[in-house]
Amino acid sequence: MFEDWVSFGYLLSAILFVFGLKKLGHPRTAPKGNQYGMMGMAVAVVTTVVDMHFLPDGIVGWTIIGSGILIGSLIGYIMAVKVEMTGMPEMVALFNGFGGSASALVALSETWKWIEGTSPEPGLETTVTVVAAGLSALVGWMTLTGSLLAMYKLKGGIEVFGKWIRTPTWGPAWLNPVKGLLFISVLVLIYLSIDDPTNTDYLWAIIGVSCILGIILVLPIGGADMPVVVSLLNSLSGIAAAFTGFIINNSVLIVAGSLVGASGLILTVIMCKAMNRQLSDVLFKSFGGSEKQELTRTKVGSDAEEVAMMADGAQKIIIVPGYGMAVSQCQHQVKEFADLMAEKFGTEIKYGIHPVAGRMPGHMNVLLAEANVPYEQLIEMDQINPEFSECDMAIVIGANDTCNPAARTGEGPLAGMPIIDADQARTVVIIKRSLSVGYAGVDNDLFYEDKTMMLFGDGKKMMNELNSAIKEL
Ligand code: TAP
Repeated sequence: MFEDWVSFGYLLSAILFVFGLKKLGHPRTAPKGNQYGMMGMAVAVVTTVVDMHFLPDGIVGWTIIGSGILIGSLIGYIMAVKVEMTGMPEMVALFNGFGGSASALVALSETWKWIEGTSPEPGLETTVTVVAAGLSALVGWMTLTGSLLAMYKLKGGIEVFGKWIRTPTWGPAWLNPVKGLLFISVLVLIYLSIDDPTNTDYLWAIIGVSCILGIILVLPIGGADMPVVVSLLNSLSGIAAAFTGFIINNSVLIVAGSLVGASGLILTVIMCKAMNRQLSDVLFKSFGGSEKQELTRTKVGSDAEEVAMMADGAQKIIIVPGYGMAVSQCQHQVKEFADLMAEKFGTEIKYGIHPVAGRMPGHMNVLLAEANVPYEQLIEMDQINPEFSECDMAIVIGANDTCNPAARTGEGPLAGMPIIDADQARTVVIIKRSLSVGYAGVDNDLFYEDKTMMLFGDGKKMMNELNSAIKEL
């Protein structure tokens, strides 16, 4: 009877996870999706604790478990409250690393029981456990070191003794065979541990090589491809959890781990498609280097009054938001501009959303939803692109790479990435502080075109000036 309640608890949390994922598919329902996910996790934790309490051995370390939950919740709360919207990808990368290493540590503790106690009987069950523990260690430790490096790459570097050291992007061609050799050596070590599961030399070697693998997998990946890697590491942390679920025979860990693994992989594929990359190219070709291109050209800036005059009477304007909108937090001013234009001139306003604009998937949608922009106005890249040729004005706010025509040339870090066709609009207004490059470090020809007006300055300040100028028309 008691087992039935535990199974019911796990089933309930699995259902909540699935519903949560479904709801996360749309910005309007995403907050509900998060709540379902949180409820699912709460049910899973309570069920596990209750299950362990009534086991024959019971929980031996109530103080440790209680303190862990308390300290973990406190750290999670502080991080979630303090994190800036722009720092979210780094935090996601860090959490992926924590997830992967937590799974690997649980797997290690199970193996440790054998080392400290009696060797397990050889047989199918032991083989399955050893292989699952080995794979969990491989994926978990690789995810930890890879995610930490990804986090520092997203931050742009690491501070040592008060000095910022840029995280390098380094990947000579011979590194790929080395990755292959290390991967095969871990598989051989796992195979050897089947006959000798208490051999700690194998155990430490698997952990050490997996940590190195994580570093050399992420080291060559730079610039524009980092989001894909973070998403892939997210998927790996789920896979590590699923392996650990097999070891400790915990069904909800298998279900939740598989869901994270599968959804992370789907997101990775979607992002690769959005950036016109093959996943194999991202992982093995040292693409998207972070070297910044030198700027040699200049452009005279416009002012808010000139832009307002150009916008006067426009029938259709497409707003193209990017990372700079997130930095300057000007989404409310952008919404105010849209409302003003619609009221004063009956202008049709739409927003062109690139799938990797900003620094995390859905970044622009979240910000614009916060400013109460109607969802119907947020149009994805493929749908909005044909509309630029018939629009009077494209207003690019803090976007750069995602509308850089250099991506069409087939060369450089942005080569082949589909972009927002803002350059097809009759007039283009670009709001940013300078002519400087975006995340991928590539100069943008669009800034220098005759039909482009550069409004130099912080996004929020310039949008306020533009709104005042529109009001005075
Ligand atoms: P970016 O190409 O990164 O360009 C952002 C521009 O915003 C910069 O050129 C900067 O120019 C401007 N900016 C910064 N602060 C500003 C402020 N306060 N006010 C106004 N402008 C400001 O942005 P994007 O077009 O959104 O492209 C995103 C890039 O990030 C892609 O390369 C993508 O691959 C990468 N990335 C994406 C993600 C995800 S999942 N979305 C995650 C990590 C990386 P100034 O300095 O001249 O102002």
